[in-house]
Parts: sequence; structure tokens; C-alpha cells
Amino acid sequence: MMSEKAQIGVTGLAVMGRNLARNFARHGHTVALHNRSYGRTKELVEEFGHEGKFIPSESAADFVASLERPRRVVIMVKAGGPTDAVIDEFAPLLEPGDMLIDAGNAHYLDTRRREAALKAKGLHFVGAGVSGGEEGALHGPSIMPGGPKESYDALGPLLEDIAAKVDGEPCCVHVGPDGAGHFVKMVHNGIEYADMQLIAEAYDLLRQVGGHEPAEIAEIFQGWNEGRLGSYLIEITAEVLKQVDAETGKPFVDIVVDQAEQKGTGRWTVQAALDLGVPVSGIAESVFARALSGGADVRKAAADAALPGPVPAKNYAGDLQADVEQALFASKIVAYAQGFQQIQAASKEYGWDIDPGAMAKIWRAGCIIRAKFLDFIKQAYDKRPELATLLVDDYFLDAVSGAQDAWRRVAAAAAQQGIPAPGFASALAYYDGLRAKRLPAALIQGQRDFFGAHTYHRVDKDGSFHTLWATDDRKEVDA
Ligand code: 6PG
Repeated sequence: MMSEKAQIGVTGLAVMGRNLARNFARHGHTVALHNRSYGRTKELVEEFGHEGKFIPSESAADFVASLERPRRVVIMVKAGGPTDAVIDEFAPLLEPGDMLIDAGNAHYLDTRRREAALKAKGLHFVGAGVSGGEEGALHGPSIMPGGPKESYDALGPLLEDIAAKVDGEPCCVHVGPDGAGHFVKMVHNGIEYADMQLIAEAYDLLRQVGGHEPAEIAEIFQGWNEGRLGSYLIEITAEVLKQVDAETGKPFVDIVVDQAEQKGTGRWTVQAALDLGVPVSGIAESVFARALSGGADVRKAAADAALPGPVPAKNYAGDLQADVEQALFASKIVAYAQGFQQIQAASKEYGWDIDPGAMAKIWRAGCIIRAKFLDFIKQAYDKRPELATLLVDDYFLDAVSGAQDAWRRVAAAAAQQGIPAPGFASALAYYDGLRAKRLPAALIQGQRDFFGAHTYHRVDKDGSFHTLWATDDRKEVDA
């Protein structure tokens, strides 16, 4: 008798891999299991075997043999070297048409490299972004698979089964070829960094300028969560602010060391944006703010030198709470607008043909940046797929123009009272930069031409020009 084969396999059974495997099994799929050490595989079957059908294997060869064809192997190991090691182990055991699916937070350039190498062997490599943490992996993540379109035909239905749903629609779509899925997941994380930084700045202003205690700010966030800012990150912020340390009775937020760490996906987003020439200043500020917070030596030197600031003044001319909500919403719009612009630029650069509206759609549930206003982003791109920036869409234009006075008051108060709010300030500067009829970039062009004969364009005629700065008459010549 032929033994039953598995529809999908998972190798790498730490918590994310284990939860993805359980999610597939809970949806009625038979799941092949493999892990470097067999103990984890056994544990999973002992603890959760009742949830569905699992086929555990000790060796990679048995694992591969337990899968139906085309084989679908989900790799859930640490990004970088460990992923390459697993690919090297499995690729020789697979046959043309089989699929390796990297569900980790891989760098999209690694994914492009791996996809090209495996394609040469007839294998499909799918770099799939998966967001939602441990809970999402188990109950429904947002999934951003890249790789060849044909592999999505065979794999997509399984991924769509386990993905989060909004009105019955799965938060999973084929993003585009090769590294597109991991690129979009990377930008998702970059936006996540920006969102978190902006929320942190809002909290800081409410506390330092408004004099509110963390528990009160938790209530403010809970209120905001009912409105247009409604999102997972706002919701969990309220939970974190409510938390009281059992040992000291102090607010939890006051007993945590104020140095934000990172695994690096936000940094990757900014690095990629620099290469693409897309100004993701909101994401960049959030990465730098984490770096500043973590720079213990520099902060100590500054503390020792007692760098002077303004006299603290807990006053604000206006409704602080309402203004901060406006500033937060407007700055958040800027961060998302920049992230989406980066996705569009990469899509063009690599020929990925990514549908930005579809990305907003699959981020509406399951992922960390899930938020009510993603519906409006989706609608904006549905209306105008080639939208240059979300800021010119009617909904966002109205929101930002309605917010701008409050936004300026908040940024000014932060600057005057010496409270760092780089996210709010740089989002506002970006907005004003986009609005400006003339930018001082013209002067920079003049400086470049002066010291390096780098030439400039004129507003009134075509061509490149250079001024002979070193001559007495400083004549302009065609360049
Ligand atoms: C997600 C998260 C997830 C993870 C990041 C954040 O979408 O589920 O983004 O990928 O939490 O790695 O990590 P850092 O803040 O440590 O960079």
C-alpha cells in the first residue's frame, strides 16, 4: 500500500516554523516535518499531533521522500548562512519543478541570487515574506511570496489557506518574481520601524509636554485606536503602557533600558532606498533614532558634558492631545507614502510589476503594521495605479492639509522644549520639500559647478551649462 504523502513540508521547527507547520495541519494539510535535531520534531508531534496530520522524518532524504510532487519545502531557519546551508542540503535531493520556500526575513538580494542559482537546476525558489510574529504564524499571517508565477499556482492555494483573512479574502498574493516578496517584506519592516518611532514620539510628547502618566497615555491610545489611527501597533502600545512592573510597582516602560535594538530589516530598507534614490526619510530617522538610543558611550559623554537644553516648560498653546493625534497621523501618512514609493521604484528597477494596491490589501490583517487606513491606501492605488505619491490622493491630501497646523505646532513645541521628535520633524520637512515651488537645490547646483565644473540646467532653455567661475567675466558656456 502506498503510504500517504504530505502536501507541504517544513524544515526548521523553532517557534515560527512550528507554528506555520501547525497552521497548515489545522487547515487539513498533511505536513512533513524536519529539523536539524530530531528532538524538536518529536516534541511537535507529541504536543500538537492531535491538531492534524504530520509526517515526521529524522533525515532530509526521508523528509523529501514523504512529500507529494511537486514538492513544497518551507525553510524556516535563520536568515543568511543557515538558509544557504539548508538549501545546499536539500537542493540535491529535489527534482525539477519542486519548490523551496524561504519564509524567513532574507535580504532580497540573497533571494535573487538563490532563485537564479536554483532555476539553473530546474528548481523553484520562492522568497516569501511572512509577517505577524509567532501568533500570526499560527493563526494567520500576512504572506508576501515572490518567485516564479508558476510556483504560485501550485503553492498559493496552501498559503492562502493559512493566511489571515479580511472579509474572507486572504492576506496573501503573488508579489512578483525572484526577490519581490522579500523586498516588500523588508519595506513592511521599514514602515514598521517608522510607525513605532512615531508612536514613541507621540507618547514622549504626551508625557513630557502634557505631563500625563503612562496609564493615562494608554487610555489616550485606546481612544485613538477607535479612530482613524486604529491599528495593531497603537493597540499594543496601549497594552505596553498599561503594564506595571510586578517587582517595583513602577510603570513597565520606566524599568526598561531605553536602548532600542534591531535585527536589521529597517536598516536594509534604508540601504536599498539609498541605492534606488528614494527619500525614505521617515524610515531612516527611525533607524537612526534606534542607533542613537543604543549609542550608550556617546549618550554618556553627552550626559557627562551636560549638553545644555531649554528650560523645561510643560506648556502648550492648544489641545496637545488632539494636535499630537494629527501630527502622528500626518507623519504616518508620509512614512507609508515613502515606503510605497520605494516599492514602486524597486518594481520598476527589477521589472517586478508589483501592484501597490495589492500590497496594501494583504497588509490589512495578520501583519505587524495592519491598520485601518490601509483600506484607503488600497483604494488610492485602485483608483490610480501609477500614483506618484500617496500624498496627492484625495483622502490623504485632505488628511494632511487638515493636520498641518497641528503638525507644525507639535514639531515647533518639541523643538522649543528640547524634546527629540525626529520622526515628526522630518516627515514635516519632507512634506514641505514636496510642496516647495523652488528648492535651494539650485544653489547646490551652483556650488557643484563652481568647485567641480559639474554643470547645471537652466529654467529657461534646454542643455547643460557651465559658468567659467575662475575668469573675470564669469561667462556661461554650453557644457
Ligand atoms: C513581522 C516582524 C518581524 C520581526 C522583525 C522586527 O513582520 O512579523 O517585522 O519580522 O518582529 O524582525 O525586528 P527588529 O525590530 O528586531 O529589527
